[in-house]
Amino acid sequence: MKSVELIKQDFPILGRTFNGHGMVYLDNAATTQKPLAVIEAISDYYENYNSNVHRGVYRLSEESTDRYEKSRENIASFVSSETAGLVFVRNATEALNLLAYSLGHRLKRGDIILLSEMEHHSNIVPWQFLMEKGVKLDYVKMTSDYTLDRDDYANKLKKKPKIVSITQASNVLGTINPVKEMATEAHEAGSTFIVDGAQSVPHMPVDFHAIGCDFLVFSGHKMLGPMGIGCLAGNLESLESMDPFLGGGDMIREVQYERATWNDVPYKFEAGTPNVAGAIGLSAAANYLRDLGMEEVRGHEKTLMKKTLDLSRDVEDLVSFGPPDPEMRGGVFSFNIGNLPFFKLNDKLEENDVVISGTVHPHDLAASLDSFGIMIRSGHHCAMPLMGRLDVAATSRASYYVYNSLEDVKNLFAHLNEARKVFAR
Ligand code: ALA
Repeated sequence: MKSVELIKQDFPILGRTFNGHGMVYLDNAATTQKPLAVIEAISDYYENYNSNVHRGVYRLSEESTDRYEKSRENIASFVSSETAGLVFVRNATEALNLLAYSLGHRLKRGDIILLSEMEHHSNIVPWQFLMEKGVKLDYVKMTSDYTLDRDDYANKLKKKPKIVSITQASNVLGTINPVKEMATEAHEAGSTFIVDGAQSVPHMPVDFHAIGCDFLVFSGHKMLGPMGIGCLAGNLESLESMDPFLGGGDMIREVQYERATWNDVPYKFEAGTPNVAGAIGLSAAANYLRDLGMEEVRGHEKTLMKKTLDLSRDVEDLVSFGPPDPEMRGGVFSFNIGNLPFFKLNDKLEENDVVISGTVHPHDLAASLDSFGIMIRSGHHCAMPLMGRLDVAATSRASYYVYNSLEDVKNLFAHLNEARKVFAR
């Protein structure tokens, strides 16, 4: 891969300083920074091509339509899905809401949807809406090494869930789930299999066809692209059989006052003026990542994670949450300094609990690191049920990407040790 020093130069924002410290951005699971290539692609669109798509017969509109559709083709090829099966949405969350709505129509009272204990709220709450019609949610358990319990999965598939929706990489634990094998097993049970790729598509090679899933969702802003654009990749047959999610312009073939018919896939799912600049920006992001090489991106994050796990052993009272083997996890490191009753969801201390020194609240830690220009996330990471399962209310989380260096990791740990001395008294 191109050197991290050169990569950093492609990202104007990384030149900022905070209290005289260089910017160490370690919140990439929340959103990533944008390279000049993406910023310029968006400006170029607004400076030279801006016009609505699929509507005008004048040249400017044709140029805009052409660039929008070429972006679709490029992004579909990035995840090896069919161009016509690539629907532009706002983000992975919207894609999951679309699926819950459109697939949910067909479900009946008593039908089961199988999720896992490590899902983000976006892969839980849209399915909870269907509980109103008597649909049941079930969750694959997590093992003590923070991976999914495959025996539990096999047992839960015996109940023939209609839909299985699983994250390929956890935004809290970093765990990479074996979605290809899980998709095969789900299909044997007659289930539709959905992959939440929000934390995997940006970080490793992801091949829609090789996984063999029915749907894959991901967000642009977590892979160097702009906010407000994301994708639903689906197999054509399933998309064609589904009801639209939102109604309006462009998603129709013909409208009368009392009824309407639907446009072809993917347009059937793209009501209203789309985020054309977003799609073009995301396509530029896909080109940037493709040039780095997704295997190389994954390899780089493994190197950072190995260093992280090594350094974490030297921090007193540090408890981390995630598989111990860097091969089984992405570049996400969740931890607490002291993992004491202080962090319990249940505020009431139990008889034998003792609050001892060594505990630093994640928000205190994040604020302290911020004073050195180091940015991490603290809190529940939009995964409150998982926090409950870990028996904590919050964690601190560092998450890496292509512009992070071993120096950034060392910097994190140097200041982490400092913060521990200040707070953990
Ligand atoms: N889902 C994003 C995160 O994990 C926002 O931080």
